[in-house]
Amino acid sequence: MTQPQRNILITCALLYANGPIHLGHMVEYIQADIWARFQRMRGHECLYICGNDAHGTPIMITARKLGITPEQLITEIHQQHDQDFKDFNIAFDNFYTTHSPENQQLTNLFYERLQQRGDIVKRTISQAYDPKEKMFLPDRYVKGECPNCGAKDQYGDGCEVCSSTYEPLDLKNPISIISGETPIAKQSEHYFFQQQKYAPFLQSWLKDIKLQEEMQNKLGEWFATGLHEKDISRDTPYFGFKIPGTEDKYFYVWLDAPIGYMASLKNLCERNKNINFDTYWDIDSKAELYHFIGKDIIYFHAMLWPALLHGAGFRLPTNVYAHGFLTIDGQKMSKSRGTFIKGRTYLNHFNPECIRYYFAAKLNNRVEDLDLNFTDFMQRVNADLVGKIVNIASRCASFIHKYFNGELSERCADKALLEHCINAGDSIAEHFETREFSRAVRTIMELADRANQYIDAEKPWALIKETAKAQHVHEVCSMGLNLFRILMIYLKPILPATAKDTEEFLNIAPMTWNDRKTILAKHKINPFKPLLQRITEEQITAMKNEIAAEATPTNDTPQVSTHLTQDPLRPEISYDDFAKIDLRIARIVKAESVPEADKLLKLIVDIGGETRQIFAGVKSAYDPAELEGKLTVIVANLAPRKMRFGMSEGMVLAAGPGGADLWVLHPDEGAEAGMRVK
Ligand code: 2FM
Ligand code: ZN
Repeated sequence: MTQPQRNILITCALLYANGPIHLGHMVEYIQADIWARFQRMRGHECLYICGNDAHGTPIMITARKLGITPEQLITEIHQQHDQDFKDFNIAFDNFYTTHSPENQQLTNLFYERLQQRGDIVKRTISQAYDPKEKMFLPDRYVKGECPNCGAKDQYGDGCEVCSSTYEPLDLKNPISIISGETPIAKQSEHYFFQQQKYAPFLQSWLKDIKLQEEMQNKLGEWFATGLHEKDISRDTPYFGFKIPGTEDKYFYVWLDAPIGYMASLKNLCERNKNINFDTYWDIDSKAELYHFIGKDIIYFHAMLWPALLHGAGFRLPTNVYAHGFLTIDGQKMSKSRGTFIKGRTYLNHFNPECIRYYFAAKLNNRVEDLDLNFTDFMQRVNADLVGKIVNIASRCASFIHKYFNGELSERCADKALLEHCINAGDSIAEHFETREFSRAVRTIMELADRANQYIDAEKPWALIKETAKAQHVHEVCSMGLNLFRILMIYLKPILPATAKDTEEFLNIAPMTWNDRKTILAKHKINPFKPLLQRITEEQITAMKNEIAAEATPTNDTPQVSTHLTQDPLRPEISYDDFAKIDLRIARIVKAESVPEADKLLKLIVDIGGETRQIFAGVKSAYDPAELEGKLTVIVANLAPRKMRFGMSEGMVLAAGPGGADLWVLHPDEGAEAGMRVK
């Protein structure tokens, strides 16, 4: 029986626009992308919406440190994220931003409606304030000693040693991590959303939807301790939307962030008149709405957001699907362990389809962490995708082209096996529908084993030697390619690019889920091209080397602060610390581009009779020839770092916000190579 067409709207957490995408993020975007693609293959209208979460203090501070405006930062990051997602074959219908006119208008509408219901209350509160930076400090921008156990270096919201929670100004010897000053308590008027009024409504709504068990338990705990009003305002300076009717108050980022889901759809509707905003958000909407999120933001999506939606007169989510975190070799991703893997770093070395497959093979519908181990990754991709799936096609296609003019036979040799594979489509669909992707993958691979066993048993390579068996060989290989096609239909949500190449190879229209029921007979196919390559140890090593090289300060684009006197990443040092740095005048003897690296120039410098090779991240600002013969200053006693392209034996000093605006420091002529800088 065919299902009636559904209207489905899927969202993923909107990414903060202040840093690169890492593989941990990709678990969610890949999970939701697989689900969205599956729904589309089943003939449903399924919109997959995302964007950047562009507001808040961290974005403002990051932009300041880079010497650019928050608008410049979020525009740049948006482009990077957009490209990364495209390169991971994520098919968003819209990747937008919360810093948009649509979002501002909708946020104001929410505010107005909540105000009308009496849900917004103003109250004066006292908060940590940095007198030097003249700004209120978010809890995690204050550090000090835990008031409970005395542990040093704890954040203002809670102690990582004894787990006690407290207010920032309860810390002993608190400092602002922005300026290093002691924060003071300062009063200010804030706006509070009366979330607690919605507790009974939320409880009955949550009874109606089938939440994941882990989420149900968590929410139960929160209801037990009671809901509280939610502070939805922030004082200037802040990067966000100004609260209407105020001069210096802004909406807190977590108010306009989820509204950003609606704004992203609204923006899509403006560009595509076939999509109707109200179909998805009207209070009586019959469409399905799902939020895919990480387990750390359950509260915002299953408590605050539904209350806001209800208060503002919009429909509620059909469900909220949380996933666990990505671990690498069983541990949290960590820069110091070299396991912080940016999406771009992965893409520089591997096919995006491989990590999509690996995640799918491990994902289920529970809130469980997922582990990535690169040896396991390599073995799994090679054994399953290359060894089982692509192997079926490559084995059979060669016979079809060599002996049968590239055309499949009229009938297939084993109808029962074919039917078995077609019928399995129902349970595989059920696994996709319920987000039990690992089960779907397991079933597909069992079918692939059956297909390979079938070809092994028939031995077309032996039969072809007997003229009388030619017809049978034709039917066996046509059978093999039909099985391959069915398997690729099942894998299409996970491997969209490979599925597209398959469609080209088999000379067929884009495959839908129902296409599994039709058989390709007397059908011309195109020459076979390898659809996926094996992963090698060398690729893994090269990726690890790139991560190590990125950790080298030489490779960092120097970032200067135009505003902050103290950079939290570079705390004050003593004179003795400074005296350890061997700064020397160097003459750049040779400068050349490193073709494999976006940012690097390879410099050979003379420091008075001794030459050094240094990789410097200044490619965006200099033509290498410009630098040759010039004097500069280097850190001569930096431990040599092995980079992908060779050893880097020092660091060249440069300044500027980045891109073309980056200046290598040049001492006046008169200084001589080798002189110490004092
Ligand atoms: O936690 C985060 O990364 C947030 N930027 C997620 C926001 S999701 C939605 F509400 F916008
Ligand atoms: Zn403590």
